[in-house]
Amino acid sequence: MELTRAIKTRRSAKRFSNKKPNWRDIIECIDSARYAPMAGNNYSLKFILVNDEKKIREIADASEQDFVSRAQFIVVAFSTQSRTTNSYGERGKVYLRQQAGAAIQNFLLKINEKKLSTCWIGHFNEDKIKHILKIPEEMQIEALFPIGFESSKQKMSRKIDLDRILYFEEYGQKRMRKENKVNV
Ligand SMILES: Cc1cc2nc3c(=O)[nH]c(=O)nc-3n(C[C@H](O)[C@H](O)[C@H](O)COP(=O)(O)O)c2cc1C
Repeated sequence: MELTRAIKTRRSAKRFSNKKPNWRDIIECIDSARYAPMAGNNYSLKFILVNDEKKIREIADASEQDFVSRAQFIVVAFSTQSRTTNSYGERGKVYLRQQAGAAIQNFLLKINEKKLSTCWIGHFNEDKIKHILKIPEEMQIEALFPIGFESSKQKMSRKIDLDRILYFEEYGQKRMRKENKVNV
């Protein structure tokens, strides 16, 4: 899939059919997360692919979102924090969140290319998820991704207009100044 199309057609899905995706396709999506930029090239994100139905139900409970239980798989993304915070201190905590987001966007675009569907889940009880999946206490869970094929297409969410997020040269400057001609 062409990049612009992958970016512009990506959207969250909350209704999944009973058809099971090939788990190897999901591994390919996780693989694309390896190519994201990381501060000091210290890779901090890890993933668990969950297939077990009981665990999927428990994770859905911990996220307090019913539709999660109807996913065929759940991918849980979490960060190992120590190397980045050891290198960069407090700033390292910001880097961890930023680089998780960069890696996750790669993952989401690949999910779209594979014609799979998911929704970024940020609301969950972290302690419960750690307990269910035996994730060590010192790690931070970034997000959950229920995965399946969409059973009925949801509308694209409205996207913010470019002129509401872009300035030129300084905050508040909404127009590109004319380029100064150099007289030789
Ligand atoms: C950090 C983050 C947390 C989110 N948490 C949830 C969530 O807990 N439940 C949910 O249904 N959607 C969640 N979403 C999905 C957003 O609601 C969704 O991306 C947004 O409405 C835009 O829709 P789109 O993804 O189709 O463009 C989250 C998205 C992000 C980036």
